[in-house]
Amino acid sequence: MGFKVGLLGLGTVGTGTAQILLNPAGRHPLLSAVEIHRVGVRSLGKPRQLQLPASMMTTNLESIVTDPDIDIVVELLGGLEPARSLILQAIKRGKQVVTANKAVLARYGDEIFSAAHGVGVYVLFEGAVGGGIPVIQPLKQSLGANRIISVLGIVNGTTNYILTEMSAKGTGFDEVLAQAQALGYAEADPTADVDGLDAADKIAILAAIAFGGRIKREEIFCEGIRRVSAADINYAAKLGFAIKLLAIAQRSSRNGGEALQVRVHPTLVPSNHPLASINGVCNAILVAGDPLGQVMFFGPGAGAGATASAVVSDILNLVSLLGAIALKP
Ligand SMILES: NC(=O)c1ccc[n+]([C@@H]2O[C@H](COP(=O)([O-])OP(=O)(O)OC[C@H]3O[C@@H](n4cnc5c(N)ncnc54)[C@H](OP(=O)(O)O)[C@@H]3O)[C@@H](O)[C@H]2O)c1
Repeated sequence: MGFKVGLLGLGTVGTGTAQILLNPAGRHPLLSAVEIHRVGVRSLGKPRQLQLPASMMTTNLESIVTDPDIDIVVELLGGLEPARSLILQAIKRGKQVVTANKAVLARYGDEIFSAAHGVGVYVLFEGAVGGGIPVIQPLKQSLGANRIISVLGIVNGTTNYILTEMSAKGTGFDEVLAQAQALGYAEADPTADVDGLDAADKIAILAAIAFGGRIKREEIFCEGIRRVSAADINYAAKLGFAIKLLAIAQRSSRNGGEALQVRVHPTLVPSNHPLASINGVCNAILVAGDPLGQVMFFGPGAGAGATASAVVSDILNLVSLLGAIALKP
């Protein structure tokens, strides 16, 4: 007998997550204690890469978050609603929650974490920033002894891919964006990526962990890459810089006191800086802390397998936190 998961969403990340959970051989031993109980989707008739028993599938997502047999609700729907309400309902019912939804966490993190705290359940979200790169848990735990000075990095693979291609081929933004869309690296509506909104959601989440307290998402300065031209990139290169869309959270001195600056914008990065060589869809996050100095987290920032790796690590953490098999008959 193990832990029952209710999966909300069987799209890119949901499918990757289900594939890992259904194939535990050679992975962490606790995975064999985890079982997918129900899966919620929008359309039952949609052709899917992964066929699950029809009895497992439903379009009634509320029936999953209220199912007394389910221990862990994994929200992989995306968007604000119904994701927010379903997470809150799951918490109210005493479920542990895993989500990769940066948009919901950046806007409703306070509400969600207060509700979870009130009931005594966990909400884990390693997949929400940096895809498969372990950065949330390290920031919360392994770097906990440090006074964090800054967290900054490349947290959006689509824009980094576009800037990399513009730099390598000297092509303009519109042309590269169209190629990225054809290759599936950019959404049909690329606004959230190219205007820096996705990066702002992610730095809001990282800053809240690194510096504590509430980050007001709407107050984050945010400029995307639409106005970066091939000529800008070319001039920057001649001066010894790469142009990168950076998400930045750092302490700064102001009027004798300290303030936290959180912002997203194209940045001139010296070509010998570690972030200058992060190319394509990869992400990298540089954390500076006292006394540690700098550490960089680098890897695949999106994709089914990479993000599912982070989601399943949260499920495993919950299973161990809950006492795993020892606590359950
Ligand atoms: N894709 C990535 O590489 C990546 C990386 C990091 C984080 N994330 C985050 O992971 C989450 C999931 O992303 P994704 O790329 O897997 O999304 P996706 O491919 O669009 O899949 C979304 C899934 O949720 C279901 N769904 C959406 N709205 C629904 C509703 N109102 N009612 C019922 N079902 C609904 C869809 O059902 P149908 O299948 O029936 O349409 C689909 O199965 C998002 O929060 C995203 O930001 C994604």
